[in-house]
Amino acid sequence: MSQDTQRPVTADDFLAAASAHLGVDPRRLPMATEEPAVEAPRVLVEDPGNLTADEVDALAAGFHSRFGVVAFECRAYDVRPAVHPLIHIGSGLRDRVPCRWPVANWEDVSDGTTKIFDAGPRDGAPRALSNQALAAHQDGWVSLSGVLAVTGLCADSAPLMAAATYIQNVVRLALDLWRRDERAFARLADPDAVAIVRTSDGKRWTFPVLGVSGGGPRAFFRAPNDEFDVLPGSADPDLARAVEFLIEHTQPDSPGSTYTRLDQAGRGFLLDNHQCVHGRTAFVDADGHKRVIASKWWAKDDRYRDVRWGAPEAVPGR
Ligand SMILES: [Fe+2]
Repeated sequence: MSQDTQRPVTADDFLAAASAHLGVDPRRLPMATEEPAVEAPRVLVEDPGNLTADEVDALAAGFHSRFGVVAFECRAYDVRPAVHPLIHIGSGLRDRVPCRWPVANWEDVSDGTTKIFDAGPRDGAPRALSNQALAAHQDGWVSLSGVLAVTGLCADSAPLMAAATYIQNVVRLALDLWRRDERAFARLADPDAVAIVRTSDGKRWTFPVLGVSGGGPRAFFRAPNDEFDVLPGSADPDLARAVEFLIEHTQPDSPGSTYTRLDQAGRGFLLDNHQCVHGRTAFVDADGHKRVIASKWWAKDDRYRDVRWGAPEAVPGR
């Protein structure tokens, strides 16, 4: 799958899209980064296969909150049926949340989800299939860049000691930076604003951080770890300050972020993968307490309705 073909945007384009999307002058927004990290409230769902109108409203409101994520807890959670509860939730929200088209993944099992769990130590194994921490990232950035609009995760079973999954809205971070340091903010529209370098082989990608698609604001970022360096894409002091700001605010418990724990079967979340990054802390499995997470991704644009996430190389960095 090629890169999203959205046109390059200016910082002013981004501000106009953000203003229209939010329905408010962004200068009037509270500064997200002056707020402490908070736990995401969970929407209670009685039966994911049969969402009520109130549940749909509550899930959509959470998704469209400043955090770009809604956590939920399913009271009736049966992972044996042919269609996983997470897929039912996405179907029930497809007119309210940009989870229009479920994306088929080569790793999907018969219930339609991809299972994420600690597969044990293996050379070259993706970090996602371990119990280690994952730095904040956007799903599909390597091979389906710009395609995956929504990420859904839900615990099929819980570990002995659960991870925190933390989420930061990069659109809101950018709007904070605009008000703190306008010159740094403007550089985030550069086509090569951020460079990501894979430490294992030196492969380098560059991306603009700010984007507009379907009339709405988008933002791309990921945080560094031992697998990827994250650098300003060019030697510019304004850009250096901008990338430093984003790295500083995409860590666990960063101001303005939210978090949740997949610490019980049926607890999960849906997040806006076009606006947010997410990461996870380490977790601990034990006999009878193995973390198995059902995962599903959705595209919004009709041009991606038949997209398949089909290559093993899509996994690293997911
Ligand atoms: Fe992820």
